[in-house]
Amino acid sequence: MKKALILSVMVIFSLFAVSSAFAGPAKCPQPRKTKAAPGGIAGKDMTAKADAANGEAIYQKKAKPMACKMCHGDKGDGGGKLGKALKPAPRNFACAATMKDVSAGQMFHIIKNGSKGTGMVGHGKTLKDKEIWDVVKYIRSTFVK
Ligand code: HEC
Repeated sequence: MKKALILSVMVIFSLFAVSSAFAGPAKCPQPRKTKAAPGGIAGKDMTAKADAANGEAIYQKKAKPMACKMCHGDKGDGGGKLGKALKPAPRNFACAATMKDVSAGQMFHIIKNGSKGTGMVGHGKTLKDKEIWDVVKYIRSTFVK
């Protein structure tokens, strides 16, 4: 009798774990195979004068073909509606263990050019460089810890 109880509690817990893998934030640490930006760009950081409020508007609403939050989540944790179906998963900006290796310049490069073979499309045709730095600043100052 006791065994059956323990077993059913375990089953309930594992069902919860499985369902939350689909509903909650993306994994952390998150596996990451994204190509490195060329040296000169990886070390570049133009966020000092960037406008985080404009970056927020782009991230949460204005970006084309769709807002960044659709995949990366409104909290930046990779928990966006569309993100769940993607492999590899959208970057979880709230995951310090993964983001410690991702520089501002690296982010700029991938936002502009995309990450080939993944759901991350390049935004170089729809966003000006200045706007991309605005988004990088917003993400780094709001989500990255
Ligand atoms: C259709 C879903 C989708 C949308 C919309 C999207 N992304 Fe992504 N993004 C991804 C995926 C998937 C990855 C992971 C790519 C990889 O593993 O190489 C990613 C990765 C990234 C990275 C990580 C780069 C790195 O080197 O780790 C950054 C930064 C990023 N996205 C920013 C943005 C910004 C800013 C926007 C909006 C302008 C945006 N993304 C819109 C799916 C999306």
